[in-house]
Amino acid sequence: MEPIAPPSWEQWSKRSPGVWRYRELLPVPRGAVPISLGEGATPLTRLNRIEELRGVSVFAKNEGVNPTGSFKDRGMTVAVTLARSIGARAVIVASTGNTASSAAAYAVRAGMKVVIVVPRGKIALGKLAQSILYGAVIVEVEGSFDKALEAVMEATRRNRQLYPLNSFNPWRLEGQKTIAFEIVEQLGFVPDWVVVPVGNAGNISAIWKGFRELHRYGLIDRLPRLAGIQASGAAPLASAWRKGLREPVVFEHPETVATAIRIGKPINWPKALRAVEESNGVFIDVSDEEILSAQRLLARREGIAVEPASAASLAGLLRLVGDGFIERGETVVIVLTGHGLKDPDAMMKADTIRLIARNPEEASRIVSRLGAPSES
Ligand code: F0G
Repeated sequence: MEPIAPPSWEQWSKRSPGVWRYRELLPVPRGAVPISLGEGATPLTRLNRIEELRGVSVFAKNEGVNPTGSFKDRGMTVAVTLARSIGARAVIVASTGNTASSAAAYAVRAGMKVVIVVPRGKIALGKLAQSILYGAVIVEVEGSFDKALEAVMEATRRNRQLYPLNSFNPWRLEGQKTIAFEIVEQLGFVPDWVVVPVGNAGNISAIWKGFRELHRYGLIDRLPRLAGIQASGAAPLASAWRKGLREPVVFEHPETVATAIRIGKPINWPKALRAVEESNGVFIDVSDEEILSAQRLLARREGIAVEPASAASLAGLLRLVGDGFIERGETVVIVLTGHGLKDPDAMMKADTIRLIARNPEEASRIVSRLGAPSES
């Protein structure tokens, strides 16, 4: 279905903010009622206390404030609305956690059953807890996300009643492309770079599609460069890029603290590779140490709590700035894909001062001895 030409920025700006503000550019049948929880319209926050950014102007698109705590809600509102409009009664999804909890919430809202397939022991606690609370049927499979996805593809071939909600379903990406629309609206111009963590490689493809559409309709006159960031232990695209290969280097046993992007065989790799090539961008990978240190930096200098996969954006940016690839004076948007609360275990890894008092007197003695905190 070819989308019809969009209205002008002025007309758009009069509508309420969020994914459905851009309905002319979404592939939804006329008259379909959106299954929505108020997704999108996330803050774009200027980062100004991280001096390691060396004069690069950086904005964070904080997708963690979406209804279930990640950017997945943008895609899910569109995909579940479409699933409903064709009469689907049950949805299924393989996930490292965020897609699962988002699918569960939107399926509930649409009155549908939901089955999620996740890698056993490798999904962050907050995501598992959400899925339990929303009442999803949870299937845990040994191994990585890639095995879970194989299981879902096979199950949907066998049982046509199960509507698949993974990002090989193009409607998810249609919703996620609204990140690009909001970046341009909020910034008022096209940034030089957009930095995105990459797992199954859907989101970076979706964001590129969004920019391309705005360009096609004459709403912007240039395009950003894209940087796709992977974790070193799960870096099929970054490894391929480094070696100049035109297909991913499969990681049979991906491993990283950023469990959301612990993926060895990204299904959307052709689209993502094309997006990064067309944008004159780059794929790189960052270590778990760099990811956790970026996570603390964002929390402790800027007050933004993200899960490790999202911190990969900042870790990647710091590397690109350090290498001189991104230069002083350029404007960069980093996409912070998921909320810090998703992964309490990762947050607990940060160093801290915790003092234990046996009673109120002791507590007050300790506190008064602490004095004013030093500037850091
Ligand atoms: N960041 C977070 C927080 C994610 O949950 C994901 C993907 C990504 C980044 C990468 O996005 O896959 O489009 O390249 N999570 C999926 C899931 C795989 O199942 O929740 P991608």
